Amino acid sequence: MTTTPKPQDLPAWKRLTRMAEQSIQSRLSEISETTGGFEHSSHRLTLGNHELMLDLSKQRLDQKTLATLVQLANERGFEGQRKLLFDGAQINTSEHRSALHTALRAPFAERPALVRDTVEETLQRFGRFADAVRTGARRGFTGKSFSDIVHIGIGGSYLGPRLVVDALHAQYPESLRFHFLANIDGAAIDRCLAGLNPETTLIILASKSFTTLETRVNGTSARSWFLERTTDEKAVAEHFVAVTGNIDAARAFGISDDFLFPVWDWVGGRFSLWSAVGLPIAMAIGAAGFQELLNGANAMDRHFLNAPIENNLPALLALTDVWNYNFLGVNNHAILPYDHRLSRLPDYLQQLQMESNGKSVHVDGTPVGIHTMPVIWGGEGTNGQHAFHQLMHQGTRSFTADFILIANADHKHDTHQRWLLASALGQSQAMMIGEQSELSHRTVAGDHATTTLVLDQLTPFTLGALLAMYEHKVFCQGVIWNINSFDQWGVELGKQLAEPVFEQLGGNSTLGQETSTKGLIDYLKDQKRSE
Ligand code: F6P
Repeated sequence: MTTTPKPQDLPAWKRLTRMAEQSIQSRLSEISETTGGFEHSSHRLTLGNHELMLDLSKQRLDQKTLATLVQLANERGFEGQRKLLFDGAQINTSEHRSALHTALRAPFAERPALVRDTVEETLQRFGRFADAVRTGARRGFTGKSFSDIVHIGIGGSYLGPRLVVDALHAQYPESLRFHFLANIDGAAIDRCLAGLNPETTLIILASKSFTTLETRVNGTSARSWFLERTTDEKAVAEHFVAVTGNIDAARAFGISDDFLFPVWDWVGGRFSLWSAVGLPIAMAIGAAGFQELLNGANAMDRHFLNAPIENNLPALLALTDVWNYNFLGVNNHAILPYDHRLSRLPDYLQQLQMESNGKSVHVDGTPVGIHTMPVIWGGEGTNGQHAFHQLMHQGTRSFTADFILIANADHKHDTHQRWLLASALGQSQAMMIGEQSELSHRTVAGDHATTTLVLDQLTPFTLGALLAMYEHKVFCQGVIWNINSFDQWGVELGKQLAEPVFEQLGGNSTLGQETSTKGLIDYLKDQKRSE
């Protein structure tokens, strides 16, 4: 049996290790100048009527390095792996599943035959449902139009819809208000439901498994809230929607078949906003807007599938950061959207990248022996400049960052927009060039590599393309590291351990717990005040 060579045993990996030793002898700003700066290192991609630009001119990337990174991708069999992804092969080997989120946004004829009809039927059905709620054609049990949508879900069943609704909702003026409930904290549900009228509230339960603790408990409490006020069990069927792969559990909850939309096991949670999990998106921007989101993602899919690695934006993004993480020692990466509408992008990309590629074994189960995904964090610019950028400029830690800019705002405050863009460029420039001062406390070291991404406008189409680009970045890095980007077994242990603790906090004996946790349980029980 032939075994797959470890990434670090590949010729290109070894060459890159030597190149990195060479590269750090020069300052980033010198490399940027000698490689031709923006002119040479920026990549423009026209998608439909829009343009997405990836600027790598503030990265330690000369032509030889880039060529060797491309060689690394080839040595890892990148093109074959990419084909397997789109063909629906079971690349999620630990769960024996395909990862066919690309099929959700492909035109009918281009979807793999096995999923073609079911995707179409569901897309049409939840699109019609969303539009009926938007227009008031579908009403609550007392005949009133819906005014408030409460989306209950967590992780991939929350972060994507929340990001997209936040980013685009304001462009679609209409009467619906959106509320998201993820955390199991009782304070979250109290705040979420405060002031809502059950007669005009539609509640979506989004959970692929329908067993996720937070969604189960929040869903049950929301149902009690509803019933306490309406006292009509039958009305549940007209006010609760479920998006799930666990149809029986949803029916047992009281969801009617008309209000039930499927998600399939070949759609990973963090890749599911393109499915009926995106129902609140369709309600916020309409079925036609949702289709535009899919079209943008599909345009990026086509680019990713067909463009050679040298000009392939997701692949370039992935390889650039493999260079930073594995060869230049960077262990954390900031997502810095300079656009208020994208303020939730860091959270979304954190799950997408850390849950997908935070792995330490290869696909065959052997230890990786190299670093995989670093910590992903970030926040909206310019706010971060007055919070965490100090550490970026003068702290002792290395980092890389993605600056994400939208060239044209959807407001009329030109001065604000110009300052916003100027601030982003000022920050990335400072991170690259730094400043020497006679006063050491004023010296800014610089030499931090960053990437700049620019969308011409923020629309459903361009946002779809942006998110699909990051999805494919994750996939490429998984290929380079030879890890399974589509499972997340690491999250299970903590969930299991919470179960006995839940019982013990309720009064049961803490016998059998190790001393640290036992002490904490006993302490919390002591602290609990009687009503
Ligand atoms: O806890 C991790 C996770 O399984 C995520 O991968 C997923 O997006 C989230 O929980 C929610 O799962 P579900 O949609 O089944 O409720």
